[in-house]
Amino acid sequence: MTKSASVTSTISGPTPIRASIPSAIFRCCCALPCWTIWALIPALEWQARETPRRTGIDVGVSSENVDDSLPDDIRTCVYRVVQEDLQNVARHSGAKHAKIAVKQLNGTLSLTVEDDGKGFDPKRTKGMGLLGMEERVKQLGGHLEIHSETTKGTTLRISLPRFFV
Ligand SMILES: Nc1ncnc2c1ncn2[C@@H]1O[C@H](COP(=O)(O)OP(=O)(O)OP(=O)(O)O)[C@@H](O)[C@H]1O
Ligand SMILES: [Mg+2]
Repeated sequence: MTKSASVTSTISGPTPIRASIPSAIFRCCCALPCWTIWALIPALEWQARETPRRTGIDVGVSSENVDDSLPDDIRTCVYRVVQEDLQNVARHSGAKHAKIAVKQLNGTLSLTVEDDGKGFDPKRTKGMGLLGMEERVKQLGGHLEIHSETTKGTTLRISLPRFFV
């Protein structure tokens, strides 16, 4: 049976605009190029709800202090990294749970995606997916790191520094 995604956020505010549109249209928009990702956290919450339907992995989202009006390239980068990494979690990890956390502090946006899967050796194993994520993040002056240990899961972390100065 598919588990439901747990989605929490420390941000409160008006109901996201997507709540008022049919989910099929929202899904369509999320599959389109990223200028359509008008609000990062709702878009990540959508991914967190869709992933368990396809994979059975329970995905949670938390956010802290994240600006509603992040620059397009930042939103695109974070959304695509999460999408790529959740694919890896689903294909390779055997995880039951994953947690996405986004935080904005002193002008730096940081993202972590953590899973409780089988882990791997990130120093020895790198494919197009990981290289592509690294490249995206580097282009914005950011940094990507992966911590993983066999049987102890994997944490991917990116930081995008001083993007709005
Ligand atoms: N969360 C994870 N848990 C376990 N193994 C992982 C995880 N993420 C990546 N890996 C390992 O790292 C390898 C490289 O991942 P990467 O995304 O670069 O390539 P890929 O998924 O094999 O292929 P693709 O180019 O289609 O993404 C994977 O094949 C897998 O062995
Ligand atoms: Mg991959």
